Amino acid sequence: MYKRIITFVSLICISSVTTTTAFAAKQQAGVAMPDSYSADVAASILSQGGNAVDAAIAAQFVLAVTLPEAGNIGGGGFMLVHTDKQNDFIDYREVAPLKGHRDMYLDDKGEVIKNKSVFGVLSAGVPGTVAGMWLAHEKYGSMAWKSLLQPAVSLAEKGFVVHPKLADNISWYLDYLQKKDIKVNFADYFGEIKAGQVFKQPALAESLKRIRDHGPDGFYKGKTADIIVDFMQQHGGLISHQDLAQYQAVSRKPISQPWQGYQVLTAPPPSSGGIAILQWLKMYQQLVPANDKKPLEHNSKEYVHLLAEIGKRVFADRADYLGDPDFYPVPVEQLLDDDYLQKRAGDVNLLAISTTEKIEPGLYESEDTTHFSVVDQWGNAVANTTTINLTFGSGMVVPGAGFILNDEMDDFSAKPGVANVFGALGGKANEIQPKKRMLSSMTPTILLKDKQVALVTGSPGGTTIISSVYQSILNVTEFGMSAEEAVNSPRFHHQLYPENVIRHHKGLKDEDKKALQQMGYTLDNRYFGDVHLIINKNGKLDAGSEARGRGKAMVLR
Ligand code: DON
Repeated sequence: MYKRIITFVSLICISSVTTTTAFAAKQQAGVAMPDSYSADVAASILSQGGNAVDAAIAAQFVLAVTLPEAGNIGGGGFMLVHTDKQNDFIDYREVAPLKGHRDMYLDDKGEVIKNKSVFGVLSAGVPGTVAGMWLAHEKYGSMAWKSLLQPAVSLAEKGFVVHPKLADNISWYLDYLQKKDIKVNFADYFGEIKAGQVFKQPALAESLKRIRDHGPDGFYKGKTADIIVDFMQQHGGLISHQDLAQYQAVSRKPISQPWQGYQVLTAPPPSSGGIAILQWLKMYQQLVPANDKKPLEHNSKEYVHLLAEIGKRVFADRADYLGDPDFYPVPVEQLLDDDYLQKRAGDVNLLAISTTEKIEPGLYESEDTTHFSVVDQWGNAVANTTTINLTFGSGMVVPGAGFILNDEMDDFSAKPGVANVFGALGGKANEIQPKKRMLSSMTPTILLKDKQVALVTGSPGGTTIISSVYQSILNVTEFGMSAEEAVNSPRFHHQLYPENVIRHHKGLKDEDKKALQQMGYTLDNRYFGDVHLIINKNGKLDAGSEARGRGKAMVLR
């Protein structure tokens, strides 16, 4: 992973997939990124001989500038790393502030106060991104930290050209804030943005320079820390100097399990995602054995129903057993045990829906996190998912520091039996405690075959992340799709609550939709996710970014 080979590459990029000219490298490298700025910077780092982690760090900071919906230094995330020597999971998830407590979002009557965990400074967990990137760099970086930060500094200082989809997202968000009468300062910073114009962020540039020049101390201590804490104090927020100074990103052992001839490396708790996708994939395989006479047709009524049934069981486990493993003993092995899953799958009726209690759905408002995948010329891979939770996080920009604060506290369970914005339930395992990490659905995932990277995937989308990820895997492994087909193929999601609702993309066949409705499902046609996928087929890379977003995928030869 520390190898550096100086090589040159000239890129000819077409939207979504790419061709390149000669790259005097050991083998192909590839990136699948949520926007063109991050893709170009990551490709340039790889072409200078940087490794996958170098490219990921540079891309993460670029996204903090050019993808304010989700890119961040005010949030957190997970980075899954595979090298020929080890697999690693860098957990830079936010934590609850020291003054946080279990009932902090409840009123005198013990009811959840609407929006308190979603907008404004009280919704923010202590940010983890800068510490996470630093830890990744300390362990795996081969290029100078400063050189990895500089592209982001330049884009913030000199500006970048605003993509029409960013301008649309901002105007949608401003309308939303106004309609719902939500008082945040987002408009002061982003209100004037126009598609096609250059947008500069001088305060963010200064924050990034402090990180560039002083590493994590340039964020968790000194001027940026002072600005954050002053802002908190002015608005009744909880994050203190002590919270910032004590924040630590940690390295965890990824979940690693065999499945259908692959080794699946994926996110351990405090993500629910790794357990969830493996439960889903394993139960699917138990119910549709590989040697079945007739495999299910992709996205047919039977396929959707079967996976929805599995989803009910997955999400029931998620609500009861999952939380931060440093605070709650998560029974990972039992939840992935084949016999346990066999029993769980045993009562799936292929013709009828199993019963669920009625539970009020969550708000299901806008969603934005972001994911990217990288493979370098040595076959190392990074799958990185990062978030400030909802689109534009808490809606609060730290004045003078120029970055948006997350609203990740909503991923905790504010009260047992009450769904969060993603409709997810939780209890003791995921209740708020000081310094605890809130349960996540982010699922950066890598599949190995014969010890080589075979697939790198991940997506945003709150709880729907899990469906986007396991379906991207099935699309490739079961249905032989290319990267572009796999990311653009219609997906669907069911998560126990709301009762019997299947959320789906456009593109399911009318006859299948009718049949599902006749079975008793309610169909909710709304997009979710933004998958960025790299596949390796016998040494040939294929990269795809979902066409609906503003992503860009490239293979460097
Ligand atoms: O960690 C989680 O599961 C959520 N905070 C992710 C939020 C998300 O993916 C939002 N949108 N697309």
